[in-house]
Amino acid sequence: MNKMNIAVCFGSRSVEHDVSVISALQVMEAVEAAGHTVIPLYISRDGLWYTGAALRDTQTFREFNPMGKDIQRVILDISSGSGDIWGWPIQKTGLFGKLPDPIAHIECVIPAFHGMNGEDGTIQGLFEMAGIPYASSGVLGSSIGMDKIAMKLLLRGAGYPVLDFIWFTREMLESDREAVLERAEKEIHYPMFVKPSALGSSIGVSKVKNREELEKAVDLAASYDHRILVEVGIEHPVEINCAAVGYGCNVETSVCEMPVSSSDDAFLSFWEKYLRNSSTKGGQTGGMKSLSRVLPAPIDGALTERIQKMTREIFTLLDFRGTVRMDFIMDQNDVLYVNEPNTIPGSFAFYLWKAAGLNFPDLVDRMIEDALNAYADKNRSVYAYDSNILSKVRAGIKGSKA
Ligand SMILES: Nc1ncnc2c1ncn2[C@@H]1O[C@H](COP(=O)(O)OP(=O)(O)O)[C@@H](O)[C@H]1O
Ligand SMILES: [Mg+2]
Repeated sequence: MNKMNIAVCFGSRSVEHDVSVISALQVMEAVEAAGHTVIPLYISRDGLWYTGAALRDTQTFREFNPMGKDIQRVILDISSGSGDIWGWPIQKTGLFGKLPDPIAHIECVIPAFHGMNGEDGTIQGLFEMAGIPYASSGVLGSSIGMDKIAMKLLLRGAGYPVLDFIWFTREMLESDREAVLERAEKEIHYPMFVKPSALGSSIGVSKVKNREELEKAVDLAASYDHRILVEVGIEHPVEINCAAVGYGCNVETSVCEMPVSSSDDAFLSFWEKYLRNSSTKGGQTGGMKSLSRVLPAPIDGALTERIQKMTREIFTLLDFRGTVRMDFIMDQNDVLYVNEPNTIPGSFAFYLWKAAGLNFPDLVDRMIEDALNAYADKNRSVYAYDSNILSKVRAGIKGSKA
């Protein structure tokens, strides 16, 4: 693939901000190793955009200093097809107030966000408007993948196995708390899992075994999101994950992994996922690698194939793009359920691809290729339609009707 200017966009106003920093640092190395020019594009916790060489170093994010060396505040030109990044504030130069040259020109973006304002379709919408190819699912896939309620309803409607659940809004909880809790107890029964609908990294997720725990868990979930779900809890679940990469019907799946929880009863909490065993010195690629996993998952060929097939089908169904990790969960009777897709998985699940014989730089090239194909595909669709409506409208449209 030709050398390209690849922006890795990360951070953002999300409770998973720090996890995004780790994924971004990892993918930036892979983009460079694939022979491209890396443009770090960091969105701070307060939503300001920055670029600069310092954004490739973990230390920078321990205590972010926007005035630091090799950090520059920028804005993205969102005029369709521009892809330019400008230094901020834009200062006109020369006698005639000439605009300076842009700092960089983006040919493709790799979004490395997790959670709100990045993985949920919001920034994908921005890149669509700006006419910049990007290597993640689009607006629809990203937003469905992020919202567990919409995702489960859709998958269930399409005939895929999902755990039974009820859902409610924060407003419903506030206006009739008892009714909500009773419905959960009546329809779901203990143990249950309470989750904010659109979060990740196990943040705000609780396992509850009684009313007291349920009370606390719904309040916790409602503090993170205005949509909450309560689902059947599986005792001693077996989890199996599978990654997929592609676009449209051209989708490839990785090997399966089985993440293993150290304590029997605990689910994979944020701590388990990112902090356990991670070095206190904090190498750039620490964190997510530290999770214990069995790779490939010790399951038979038929189950592996079933999981891979479902992963590919759901990828196409939900219009995913880039690399996605589909998480499955199995109960004690070996009944398999789709737990959730992650449209921008932690570390881009590169370790699953490695085991499948594709190294991280190759995965990056594949994602860029799919991004360019999707972009070209969109431009192939007809979105201009000649009509003579405007010429028929006489001067002044006040009060006019079709
Ligand atoms: N219904 C369930 N029964 C048992 N364990 C669950 C259930 N739902 C989630 N878990 C555990 O909690 C973890 C986080 O839940 P998940 O739905 O994947 O949320 P997140 O989007 O935060 O990753 C899962 O990886 C799994 O270990
Ligand atoms: Mg999960």
